[in-house]
Amino acid sequence: MLIINARLRNESSLYQIEITNQKFGTITEQASLQPLPEHAADVIDARGNLLCAPFIEPHIHLDAALTAGEPAWNQSGTLFEGIERWAERKPMLTEADIRSRALRTIQLLMENGVQAIRTHVDTTDPTLTALKTFCALREELKDKIELQIVAFPQEGILSYPNGSRLIEEALEIGADVVGGIPHFEYTRALGEQSMKDVIALARKYDRLVDVHCDEIDDPNSRFLEVLASEALFADMGHRVTASHTTAMHSYDNAYCSKLFRLLKKSGISFVSCPTESIHLQGRFDTFPKRRGVTRVKELNNAGINVCLAQDSIFDPWYSLGNGKLLRVLDAGLHICQMMGYQDISKALSLITDNSAITLGIQERYGIATGKPANCILLSGADDYEVIRRQEDVLLSIRAGKVIMERKPTELLTRPAIFPA
Ligand code: FE2
Repeated sequence: MLIINARLRNESSLYQIEITNQKFGTITEQASLQPLPEHAADVIDARGNLLCAPFIEPHIHLDAALTAGEPAWNQSGTLFEGIERWAERKPMLTEADIRSRALRTIQLLMENGVQAIRTHVDTTDPTLTALKTFCALREELKDKIELQIVAFPQEGILSYPNGSRLIEEALEIGADVVGGIPHFEYTRALGEQSMKDVIALARKYDRLVDVHCDEIDDPNSRFLEVLASEALFADMGHRVTASHTTAMHSYDNAYCSKLFRLLKKSGISFVSCPTESIHLQGRFDTFPKRRGVTRVKELNNAGINVCLAQDSIFDPWYSLGNGKLLRVLDAGLHICQMMGYQDISKALSLITDNSAITLGIQERYGIATGKPANCILLSGADDYEVIRRQEDVLLSIRAGKVIMERKPTELLTRPAIFPA
């Protein structure tokens, strides 16, 4: 396969990219746009659009996707009512139900250029039905999409009956990542202990870590410092992710300045879910209302790895969502006040390269000779244009094969503003 007339990120020229044996081959600079050769088999004309590494969804709950309103809607819009509504839905879970919703959601994500997903799966269920179903799906879908499974103790590790045993059983079954939720544990002491347990489990089973950490507006919720210091002491920061960290929005600036020193030294990654957090947080404020989103811009400027995620699609916590990470990025740039030229012109990293680091897949990710031929074609010449246009992903190529393709949006009748 040959892709011609493609733009690449952070480059001003046009390129043609060869794909052989499921890998990227030679990447050659073009002097100008080239016509598509007649009768050329297996040549794709990118028409000057941006060829980019695939989108990654680094934080979603596929086990809960598409269950909003079942059996009841989250009326208050709070995270905690979401957990209550989900606890009512959990006893209704069956393998067939989970499979059907997961496959529909994965399909939606793939149609929007996603090729790797980290999904949290609730382990506070004595049957572990969802966890087992996702481990089977990961294997079945491995040629189509990369699926990472987090053993996520939604109702606590130490506060849920047998929670510690269930999370360990999930790791024995095959979860890739150890999760946690320290701000939901009954006490500060239990929350801190749970962070130590999570790191110990990751070491015991040689797994990654991704904690729902301080997902609350409480400025005294400071489990992030425990997670980061435990990761630092265990020398495994590059394998640890702190998700949400919305309390950081409300931290005192002097404390945050001290905290950033630790975060940087620890080398941990961050996932922020801006559409979800701005919806769920600030719910106990009157006015002014906090945005309740972690300090994405400041983390990014400090050289700490941070990426953006969707979190939910039509579930008890979030009643919208459509699989489009460009929408999440657009919202995130507004909410985090990252609207300067420099911010926007490199912002696709927040849903691509930075997410690959979070998932630990960066060695086999990106458009470079010898790497697996996974890429997407976006409408626009560069990050700035792609984000401003907000158009659908045009093409998705995985292991050298086109897995999704769509026609660019076409305007059929133009409003007559200018005289003919
Ligand atoms: Fe989450």
